[in-house]
Amino acid sequence: MSDVKMEDIISLAKRRGFVYPGSEIYGGMAGMYDYGPYGVELLNNLKRAWWKAQVYDRDDFFGLDSAIFKDPRVWDASGHTSGFSDPLAECKNCHARIRVDKELEKVGVTADEKMSEAELNRLFDENRDKIPCPKCGHKEFGAVRAFNLLIKTNMGDLSGEIDIENPVYLPGEACQGIYLNFKNVVDTTPAKIPFGIAQIGKAFRNEISPRNFLFRTREMEQADTQYFVRPHENKDVYERIKKARFDWYVKMGISSDKLRLKQHENLVFYAADAWDIEYNFPSYGFDELEGIHDRTDYDLTQHTKYSGTDLSYTDPYTGEKYIPWILETSVGMGRMFLAFLSDAYCVEELKGEKRVVLKLQSELAPVKVAVSPLLKNKPELVDKAREVYTALKKEFGAVMWDDNGNIGKRYRRQDEIGTPYCVVIDFDTLDGATKDTVTVRNRDTTEQERVSLSELGSKLHESL
Ligand code: GAP
Repeated sequence: MSDVKMEDIISLAKRRGFVYPGSEIYGGMAGMYDYGPYGVELLNNLKRAWWKAQVYDRDDFFGLDSAIFKDPRVWDASGHTSGFSDPLAECKNCHARIRVDKELEKVGVTADEKMSEAELNRLFDENRDKIPCPKCGHKEFGAVRAFNLLIKTNMGDLSGEIDIENPVYLPGEACQGIYLNFKNVVDTTPAKIPFGIAQIGKAFRNEISPRNFLFRTREMEQADTQYFVRPHENKDVYERIKKARFDWYVKMGISSDKLRLKQHENLVFYAADAWDIEYNFPSYGFDELEGIHDRTDYDLTQHTKYSGTDLSYTDPYTGEKYIPWILETSVGMGRMFLAFLSDAYCVEELKGEKRVVLKLQSELAPVKVAVSPLLKNKPELVDKAREVYTALKKEFGAVMWDDNGNIGKRYRRQDEIGTPYCVVIDFDTLDGATKDTVTVRNRDTTEQERVSLSELGSKLHESL
């Protein structure tokens, strides 16, 4: 576990406009968060970097953005209406609901995902004396019940009522949209197996206890890739995908010693293999960041069966016809965001003072350059600084005007936002031998350099 605490990350995220609690002015809503001005920039930069690695840097990948609402039968086919549930039991003393599988895990007992309610109840009963309620410590619970995680909603002219007979669901996982469009992509692009489809899409889960900040939320965005291969030609590709995803995190700046790959002990019945890339989150320790799953032919077989549309693939060269196998990668953007934010968070000592700095790679930094007049009450400095700011903003986009507080305070603020460069316009910019030069301060070294305005754009381009 790292020295940084999750409270530090949450506090920085709020203080510096990265993440706000959802519906905060109404008292907040569990498991919901809003991304602030710098948060949305970091989030978008992460999505862009992911998309570049998965789609632009490959010639066998195609992008997709599918609708959130889907025919309800999709969720029958995928198994979500019947099997997408958490086993819960209610404490008879404080009425807290506990995740039975997680509590069993803590005492070294594994609850299989396939277990029926009766089997789970038996297992829970056998271990009950070892499991205290995490909230109040009592050991008496009601029966174990499977709690479905799909969120139902209403659609159409139902006057605000949910039509219980024909519910429409919010997606429990984003990847289903990819399976529904497999045939469309094959028919409308040069895609030939093996090939992949990438999508960043919303998913929603009725998590009973959303917790650990962005780690477990009820609304999430999943960045998914589904790679379609010939039946049984999964093993080597799966290994390559696992390595590529691990290496991507390291390339983007995550410390490799805070990442590890962990194989699932219990596979869902259709999976051939499943691994997680885990990150060592502050305060919580190692936990799942991204899932990498070998899903066999389950998804396209199920959708063929339930929709009546043949989703088999015919090889254009050999005429061979088969249902492709699927290798999946899936990461919640919130978890990815949290891992990058936590990993970049550094506390350093600078001239006897503590400084917090986000050492994000400049590609990911929410603000690339901050521009300041040394004094905000000197119009000649402000005018010149505005000129520089406007020119840089045109060139780099994510440029921030910062004239709040003294220069030391501005540097501290920009360090916490992770801004790689601060440009300061002072009296030397206006007159004398240093006319038309500015100070450029480097976030990581804190060193300051005098740079001529004519070279400023190209120097920043080089460094960024
Ligand atoms: N399509 C496969 C799938 O959904 P999953 O392991 O349930 O598999 C994939 O989810 C990823 O989505 C996880 O590795 C995690 O990053 C993210 N995720 C899952 N549940 C989440 C939640 N409640 N809050 C935030 N992220 C979540």
